[in-house]
Amino acid sequence: MTMEISPISPHFGAKITAIDLKKDLDRDTHAKLKSLLSEFAVLVFPKQFLGPADLVRAGEIFGDLMPQQLQKYVLPDFPMVGYNSTKDLPLKDGKLQVRGENYHTDHSNSVCPPKATALSAVTIPSKGGDTQFVDVRQAFDDLPLGLQEKIVHLRSLHVHESSRSPRTFTKLSEEDFAKIPKVYQPLVIRHPVSKRPALYLNTGRMEGIETMDADEGFALINSLYEHATDTKYEYRHRWAEGDFVIWDNRSVMHQANADYNPEEGRYLYRIMLEGDALQAFA
Ligand SMILES: [Fe+2]
Repeated sequence: MTMEISPISPHFGAKITAIDLKKDLDRDTHAKLKSLLSEFAVLVFPKQFLGPADLVRAGEIFGDLMPQQLQKYVLPDFPMVGYNSTKDLPLKDGKLQVRGENYHTDHSNSVCPPKATALSAVTIPSKGGDTQFVDVRQAFDDLPLGLQEKIVHLRSLHVHESSRSPRTFTKLSEEDFAKIPKVYQPLVIRHPVSKRPALYLNTGRMEGIETMDADEGFALINSLYEHATDTKYEYRHRWAEGDFVIWDNRSVMHQANADYNPEEGRYLYRIMLEGDALQAFA
């Protein structure tokens, strides 16, 4: 069986079929899948129906698993596997409060953020709950040269929750909060494999720009964010039960949507893969 690879949007993302991730795959296939993830940034494998043990094995094709930051949403028998369940989400004024409801890259305030995140869809509502991705490599490539040259030398302090965050984060226990790092990250990173530059943005966690006053720094962040989240850079994933989707956090941002009927339920297993410290593109 040879896997089939079909692009799912003009710039990035590929659907991989004719492969069964529950089977033992040879080293060449592992290498090919890793290289596809670096190239396409989002890989969609329909009809895999991966349970927690299968998900761990599938994740290990791409790298080492990383512990989930929110330990309260971890499966007791599979400490590296988290879950997103509607049942844990609060309602505010009748609206579901989902985690990750604006474009971001996971745990950008870690010295070594996860290089990839993956989800296995168990229960999906009949409508809504899509995950959107934008290609922040293409978004950088499309910036005017002068602006590229200016921003490649800049850094931003990433904290647990920015003073100007557009979203609120899960409140942490004092013990968990004490463990949360803050770190300066380059505004433009270089992908360790593809070597492509990419914008590195997370408006929920960025506390301005290092060498700029606050208003100027946030204005720059917001304008880059607005540029990068244009629909021309987007792939919107409409989930089907059984989907396994993995994405490269150094090449795309992603966001969740709370636009589904909470009574229907939505449940996905989640893993993350260990990443290295980010490299500046400059
Ligand atoms: Fe996320």
